[in-house]
Amino acid sequence: MKVVVWVLVLVMGVGVVVSSSGVDTPPNVLVLLADDLGIGDLGCYGNTTINTPNIDRLASEGVRLTHHLAASAMCTPSRAALFTSRYPTRYGLEENATIQIPVILHTASPVGLPADEVTLATALKAADYTTALVGRVQGPSTTASSPSTESHYSLPGVRRPWSLLQVLIHSPQVPGLVCVVGSVVWSLVMGYRKNILSTTSVLTLLLFIHVAVLAPIWFTLAHSSLDPFVHEAIGISSWLHTRVNSHLFRDDALVERPIRLEGLTQQLVDESRAFLTAHAHDHKPFFLVHSFAHVHVPMFSSQHMKGHSRHGRYGDNIEELDEGVGAILDTLRELGLEDNTLVYFTSDHGGHLEAVEPGTMERIGGHNGRFKGGKRQGGSEGGIRVPGLYRWPGILPTGVTVDVPTSLMDLMPTVLSLTGLPNITQLVPHSADKELDGVDISEVLLQKEVYGGKTTDRRRIFMHHCGQDIHALRLHTGEHVYKLYLYKARWHEGSTQCGWGAYKSCTCFDDVIDVRKEPQLYDLTRDPYEDNPPISPDTPEYQTVTEELLGYLQKWRARIHLPPSQLSTMENVKWNMWYQP
Ligand SMILES: *[C@@H]1O[C@H](CO)[C@@H](O)[C@H](O)[C@H]1NC(C)=O
Ligand SMILES: *[C@@H]1O[C@H](CO)[C@@H](O)[C@H](O)[C@H]1NC(C)=O
Ligand SMILES: *[C@@H]1O[C@H](CO)[C@@H](O)[C@H](O)[C@H]1NC(C)=O
Repeated sequence: MKVVVWVLVLVMGVGVVVSSSGVDTPPNVLVLLADDLGIGDLGCYGNTTINTPNIDRLASEGVRLTHHLAASAMCTPSRAALFTSRYPTRYGLEENATIQIPVILHTASPVGLPADEVTLATALKAADYTTALVGRVQGPSTTASSPSTESHYSLPGVRRPWSLLQVLIHSPQVPGLVCVVGSVVWSLVMGYRKNILSTTSVLTLLLFIHVAVLAPIWFTLAHSSLDPFVHEAIGISSWLHTRVNSHLFRDDALVERPIRLEGLTQQLVDESRAFLTAHAHDHKPFFLVHSFAHVHVPMFSSQHMKGHSRHGRYGDNIEELDEGVGAILDTLRELGLEDNTLVYFTSDHGGHLEAVEPGTMERIGGHNGRFKGGKRQGGSEGGIRVPGLYRWPGILPTGVTVDVPTSLMDLMPTVLSLTGLPNITQLVPHSADKELDGVDISEVLLQKEVYGGKTTDRRRIFMHHCGQDIHALRLHTGEHVYKLYLYKARWHEGSTQCGWGAYKSCTCFDDVIDVRKEPQLYDLTRDPYEDNPPISPDTPEYQTVTEELLGYLQKWRARIHLPPSQLSTMENVKWNMWYQP
């Protein structure tokens, strides 16, 4: 069986539960999160050959955002930003040039959301919601003794530091230690008995057993691999990987190890449906995050979805994702919860253009429509422009398209505002020093605010990180959307990607062209796909916009103190045994 490649991502922090704020029962909140899904992968975003009727229905029953931006083009930082409404550099979750590892690689790692970060789950718990998370996660917070949703059914599950006993039992150093201690004891006993065997030779023999036999066995098991896919991605063997990174937990209980991929999508969907059924008639609302494993590698589908699409295994994955979305939404309707549930659907970032199956070289990555670039290219449009759908029957307009630039980071303030809850500082007072980068877009969703028409005075600036660096900035003036590049991806000839490979992508530090001497400006209103040359630096338009954006960046850098990246030391990103769940 193909070994699971669960690159871990973090979702939730920890928080305090305070009493309800006195609002009459606010609506339920359901977040449906796809993984690596490109904006060109869905029917409702113009794909005519894929079959995604359920997601398309969600779009036609709600608001479809066409300019919806992820804070990062990688899962760990993007998901952290989605749930905290803050740029991931603020808490060290963007990769650093020193080792260039962009995501949490192992469950057993000290990297995660700092415990004092506040997430949407923290806020909704404070507002007396029942909170749950199902699916692909779960970057634990460093001090994680309490995950932020009250329940979860997740891969890879909750992490708690090991006890000393566990370390002793599992440590690869233990056989060596036993040899050394054993040889010392042996020598003492033998020396005491004045045996002919010299103490040194026994010591040498036992150390030899360790060095020549036990250590190589361990090293081989841990590092050799039958599966180049796993080895390339995380540098450990598939044997070790299935033991340390492939497990499914229900709260603290291990459900499955290693995870059986066939039927996993249905298993996760069933868990969410069971949650909905269990809480349908509660006196308090719920917050459910369903985080799909699709459409990330490895490609797997249940039997009935194999060959279902016209686009090979990747297409089958999209259609299976859509089927899962449909099953969850159907359950919501059957339980009579549809009108009282705010649903949000998005993808953590754009499609992975380079992804191919090793061996067959079949494409297994997404399609970002006409936007250039993809996953891991934080500055390129294809990496960060993702689907975004909000639905709340009777409250939000239906079948509406919003072209105003919005961010995944807008989720928390928007949910709190739409649901009529107090804002985050009122709900969670200790969040007062946590400046948010997302804004409340409820007026935009409710179509009260018309951009490019009557209300044009609300300007907004977005920064596009690639790792810790800022590769581009975007200015929405109300009438225009400008994008200014400081670095551009160094694509391979004739493409908008960096070659082919299961884990290949343009890196944020090596595969870039530094254009800071003369930043490149595009007007996305006139040239949405950046097909034309950038705006000439001699124009007043260039000078005004560039000056505003560079001025903003300078002030931001002077004002915001960023912690070092948590992903900048090998110690943090390697497999740290004693963090193993
Ligand atoms: C639809 O999505 C599939 C899967 O990513 C892709 O191969 C195909 O090119 C897309 N088709 C169109 C018309 O956008
Ligand atoms: C990466 O980390 C090193 C060491 O902490 C730091 O000196 C460097 O500035 C960081 N890189 C970026 C791009 O911030
Ligand atoms: C929350 O509301 C309070 C009182 O209206 C206000 O002072 C505060 O600035 C708001 N905080 C945020 C993050 O909007």
